[in-house]
Amino acid sequence: MTETISRGAANQAGARLDADAYAKAADFLPLNGIDHVEFWVGNARQAAAYYRALWGFTPVAYSGLETKVRDRASYVMVQNDIRFVFTAPLTPDGEIAEHVRAHGDGVHDIAFAVDDVESAWRETTSRGAVSALAPSALDGGEDGVLRRASIHTYGEVLHSFVDRSSYAGVFAPGYRKVKAPARAAGGLSLLEVDHCVGNVGLGDMDRFVDFYRDVLGFAQLIHYDDKVIHTEYSALMSKVMTNGNGRIKFPINEPATGKKKSQIQEYLDWYRSPGCQHIALRTEDIVGTVRRLRDNGVEFLGLPHEYYATLADRVGDVGVPIGTLEELGIEADRDEEGFLLQIFTRPVQDRPTFFFEIIERHGSRGFGVGNFKALFEAIEREQAKRGNL
Ligand code: FE2
Repeated sequence: MTETISRGAANQAGARLDADAYAKAADFLPLNGIDHVEFWVGNARQAAAYYRALWGFTPVAYSGLETKVRDRASYVMVQNDIRFVFTAPLTPDGEIAEHVRAHGDGVHDIAFAVDDVESAWRETTSRGAVSALAPSALDGGEDGVLRRASIHTYGEVLHSFVDRSSYAGVFAPGYRKVKAPARAAGGLSLLEVDHCVGNVGLGDMDRFVDFYRDVLGFAQLIHYDDKVIHTEYSALMSKVMTNGNGRIKFPINEPATGKKKSQIQEYLDWYRSPGCQHIALRTEDIVGTVRRLRDNGVEFLGLPHEYYATLADRVGDVGVPIGTLEELGIEADRDEEGFLLQIFTRPVQDRPTFFFEIIERHGSRGFGVGNFKALFEAIEREQAKRGNL
C-alpha cells in the first residue's frame, strides 16, 4: 500500500491534512516561535564540540563554575534561527544527573518565545498544564530582566515560555558571552526548527493530542493512521499538532502492534519514558548541507537503490537529479501542495533514541508520508543490527 501513496493520493490512504488547521487553533496562547531547545547530556563540553565541528553551530554563551553556577555546565550554540543549549550535571545528585542516568542524552525543554510569560503560564495551567516553574523574572543586572515560566508535557519534557524583550544579555542571567571560534565550520545552512516529534506510549497519542489542543490551543494538521505507517513487521500512528501561525509543529507518535517491535517501542524501551524522538531542521540547500554534514562525519540512514529506481515516477521533477539524491541518501515526496526533500540521521548518542531530520520544503506542509515505508524499513535494518527488532 504505502509505496503508492504520493502524488496527492495520500488523502484516500489514511493521511488526512486539514487545510484549515491554522485557523482552527485557539488564540489564547500566542507563540512567536521556538526560542531554544535544551538538551540534558552527560558531557556538555563534548556535545558542544560535536555540534560545532560536525554540524556547524557557533558557541555563543557559557554557564558553569566560572560564572558562579556550581551544579551544571551549559553551552549555548546557534545557527541562523536555531538555538540549542547543552547542559550537563557537575555533581552526582540532582535532576540533571537523574535525567542522564535514566534517559542518556535527550531533550529536556522545547522553549517557546512569547510576549507575555505570565499570561502564557496562566492560560495553560488554568487549562490543566502542570507547572514546572511559576512566572519568574531572572535578574541580569545591567542586562535587564529575562522572564520565564515552564510547564510539563509528555515524559519529562518541559515547555518553557521565554520573554527576552527586557533583556539585552547573550542568553540568560548566569551566562557569559563566548568568543566565536577563529574558524567556524562553514558551508552549512540550517535555518530553523521545522518540527519536533514526540514519542508517547501505546494508547497515549490521543491524550497528548488533546493536551496540545485543549491546554495550548493547537489544532490537528495531519492524521496518519497505522494503515499508512506500517511495514511488513511494525507500525505506528501519528498526529501532527500545529499552533495558529504554523511556526510550531509537533507530530505525536505512538507504537502500533505489528509482528515485530515498532521503532517507537524501541525508543521508549531505551529512553525509558516518552520523549522527543527527532527534531527536523529546515534548510534551503539540502544537497550542499548534507554533503557537508557527511564530509564532517554525520551518519545518515541509508536507503536501497530500489527506492531511487522508481522515485522519479512517484515525485516528478524535484529540482535535483535523482542520482544526486541517491548519492547523498536524500528522500523526496510530493503531495497536493508541493514537494519536500528530507533525510534522517542515525541516533546522535549511544542509545537508539534521539535523531535529526534535515528538510527542504517546496510548498508541501507534509512530513514525507510517501517515504514512511522505505524509511521505516531502513530503521528496521538498523534495529535488527542492534538486536532490537
Ligand atoms: Fe520529521
